[in-house]
Amino acid sequence: MRTTPFDPVPSATSVPAVVVRVVATGAEEPSVLGVPVTASGDVPAVVGLSRETLAAWGFAGKPGQTLVLPRDGGAVVVAGMGDDPTTAVLRDAAAAFARAATHESVLATTLADAGTLDAAEAAQAVVEGVLLGRYRYDELRSPAPDTPAALEEIVLVVAPDRVDGAASGAARGHLLARAAAVSRDLANAPGGYLNAPDLADVAVRLGADAGLDVRVYDRAELEEMGCGGLLGVNAGSVVEPRMIRISYTPTTGADGTRHLGLVGKGITYDSGGISLKPSNAMHAAMKMDMTGAGAILAAMTVLRELEVPARVTAYLACTDNMPSGSATKLGDVLTTRTGRTIEVVNTDAEGRLVMADAIALANEDGVDAIVDIATLTGAALMALGPLTAGLLGNDDDLQAQVEAASRATDERVWRMPLDDRYRSWLDSEIADIKNLGGESAGTIVAALFLAEWVGDTPWAHLDIAGPMRSEKDDAWRTRGATGFGARLLAEVASAYGVR
Ligand code: BES
Ligand code: MN
Ligand code: ZN
Repeated sequence: MRTTPFDPVPSATSVPAVVVRVVATGAEEPSVLGVPVTASGDVPAVVGLSRETLAAWGFAGKPGQTLVLPRDGGAVVVAGMGDDPTTAVLRDAAAAFARAATHESVLATTLADAGTLDAAEAAQAVVEGVLLGRYRYDELRSPAPDTPAALEEIVLVVAPDRVDGAASGAARGHLLARAAAVSRDLANAPGGYLNAPDLADVAVRLGADAGLDVRVYDRAELEEMGCGGLLGVNAGSVVEPRMIRISYTPTTGADGTRHLGLVGKGITYDSGGISLKPSNAMHAAMKMDMTGAGAILAAMTVLRELEVPARVTAYLACTDNMPSGSATKLGDVLTTRTGRTIEVVNTDAEGRLVMADAIALANEDGVDAIVDIATLTGAALMALGPLTAGLLGNDDDLQAQVEAASRATDERVWRMPLDDRYRSWLDSEIADIKNLGGESAGTIVAALFLAEWVGDTPWAHLDIAGPMRSEKDDAWRTRGATGFGARLLAEVASAYGVR
């Protein structure tokens, strides 16, 4: 097991340590300056080169493109913006800039001054892009000579009348990037370094700092509570499961404040159990099967600083999924918190088993809506690829709120149909339901399974099996865990109390 000292959430201290400042144009002479350049029109004077010269060196101003122009004592880095500089383009350009200047610890940029974008939204996107683009997971690596510099400072250079707006957006971006980085840390941590009790310990520690109420239910308590789904998945493990309840109450909360429920899959390692996975690359990524729970925990840690007006209660269902002599067997029947029984016909369809109990508990807390997030099905990765999450649910309005947060964060989602004509695929010969349908529509059928525990509560379901992870550094995503969901859920919660 673990022999090295290990901090499961290094970003919780390293990201806030980055100083973010906003200064008016001309107030300072930065040594390294990132400058936005669109695909057509004028090149900013500070670049000192014509469009033709830039083009001759292969820089056309396309989104994601950068070119480093060394100067005595520093550099100008041009960052392509294309022809439609949205906040998503800005975030990506900022990430590309931060990576192009990877050996610099102080990064100044005029990116937040680009185009006609709102100063706060632009600054938020730029700070997120720089911080997320520079994220690295080096906890378990020996220092190498070419290790990039640790980021110390971000300086946003904007027009004088944009300083105040940019400052508030920058602060928000700093918080959201911290949440995403914490979520990445948790998902990047190997299964042997972060099991369910470890994850609960992190929740207690981060929750205390963030003004959250955290309660942890251990195996004995889960037995009393009748959480047979979570216990059934845990049955093969030598490590206890944990159900983690995290709740946030707004400081200025009036009675009648709306109450959002969040439910996350927290499988700290998914071997498949008795339905053992083959030892391939997909299996090796299964330390990240707690990404849903990690994203929720990370998002919750910034709710108070974001002054979110709604109440938010989260349930994170945490265990590893292991094969052993005590593991749940194919054909076993589990009784969940609501009394509903499940015939387990494949122990690798474990996420829905632990989610059932967690959704039931969220409902018992009387939440007004549930958003759940889970690395639930490989079928979602097959259907939508690694850039987009599947979005399903029973409530149009709630799904539209998730889509709005998706646009704000560039954590992309795509709706899939919750077609209940497939529900009969889950009919069991001996129990209320079985945990696996047919050969096709895996993502939809998994959502239909969850819907049985959701009942009439307005509900949106995010299947993040695809975007939990990136194969390469790509825009705001870095190789490994992407932290997908942390910013999105913080934005959903932020907007939820607003009627
Ligand atoms: N955690 C996996 C889903 C997954 C796959 C997430 C790839 C991220 C990337 C889930 O528990 C699982 O094993 N699903 C099976 C279900 C099957 C047994 C019906 C799958 O998708 O293969
Ligand atoms: Mn599985
Ligand atoms: Zn899984």
